[in-house]
Amino acid sequence: MSSSYKGILWNRQKKIYDALLWSLIALYLILFVILNHRFDSKITPETLFIRASGTLALLMLHVILSIGPLARIDKRFLILLYNRRHLGVSMFLIASTHGIFNIAQFHSLGNVNPLVSLFSSNTHYNSFINFPFQTLGFFALLILLLMAATSHDFWLSTLSPRIWKSLHMMVYVAYALVIMHVALGVLQLERDPTLLFVLLFGLAWVSGLHLYAGWLEGRRDQARTASLDGYVEVSAIDDIENDRAKIVFANGERIAVFKYDGKISAVSNVCKHQNGPLGEGKIVDGCITCPWHGFQYKPEDGCAPPPFREKVSTFKLKIADGRVYVNPKPNAEGQYEEPVKISQ
Ligand code: HEM
Ligand code: FES
Repeated sequence: MSSSYKGILWNRQKKIYDALLWSLIALYLILFVILNHRFDSKITPETLFIRASGTLALLMLHVILSIGPLARIDKRFLILLYNRRHLGVSMFLIASTHGIFNIAQFHSLGNVNPLVSLFSSNTHYNSFINFPFQTLGFFALLILLLMAATSHDFWLSTLSPRIWKSLHMMVYVAYALVIMHVALGVLQLERDPTLLFVLLFGLAWVSGLHLYAGWLEGRRDQARTASLDGYVEVSAIDDIENDRAKIVFANGERIAVFKYDGKISAVSNVCKHQNGPLGEGKIVDGCITCPWHGFQYKPEDGCAPPPFREKVSTFKLKIADGRVYVNPKPNAEGQYEEPVKISQ
């Protein structure tokens, strides 16, 4: 939560997550090798390695891209968001083994520099079907490297959340490059179209999930229309759980209204760390705690507790006839707003 460098702290939950992740990776690789050997006993170990690592990286990329929309659709998937960066870095490590092995296997035995060979062994750059598909994998890997290298919070605060987020949105460019890399690779090298169908299914899954999550969020936003003297209705006071929030969309932004210790306070829903949804978090030790990575803010002024310096906007609230209303005009970030007491 500060801009100084801190080493990665592996707490118990992260250790369990990593142990589980690498066990699943090992299980996939073992099953892939056994099954492929069974169906094609002439397959060479090199081809097996290239295929196992390539398909595993592709599968992990799909999982990574599915977590965000799944967590928006159903809060139970939020647990997967925590440590998504470990999954990303692990995926990069697998993808780079695949890429480096391919370059060593196909481009390092001649007298041309392997990287030059990667770009010059197939020069059908003006053909669609025969396009040098390996170069697409190379550029995807370059983006994944950039993302893995800047995944630590140090880079988030050094680059600023806006630039960091834009950089990490490039995962979609990497995804498009990988899809084309695999599709063209299959069309050029394989007779069996199974992988192509699996790829199309994956693409439809990821796009469908994103579209559905966006549609659902738009519908939730539109559902709130009632207002009182310019204040927008949030919900009945009893509908907000203790130490939890209701999120309302007003004036183009999401506001989180928290109920705690017999009072209510409202802050911007957007966490300063990585735009996590504060309203999906809870009050821990008197502070709003972001569900993604645990950044904290005091509900009455939106300031992170010392020594941290992050601040979010607060909002004015009122209660009428057992219902909560919020003024959609934000106060300045970190401005104290007297919590509204709930009369019994
Ligand atoms: C320097 C970067 C890369 C190079 C040189 C490269 C090269 C190759 C080559 C030569 C093949 C065909 C192998 C064969 O079927 O004989 C291949 C297939 C494949 N690659 Fe890559 N690749 C790179 C990056 C990536 C990345 C970043 C991903 C995914 C995240 C990826 C996923 C795949 C997949 C899924 C296949 C199909 C495997 C199969 O045939 O079953 N590749 N790649
Ligand atoms: S987004 Fe990381 S803690 Fe909020």
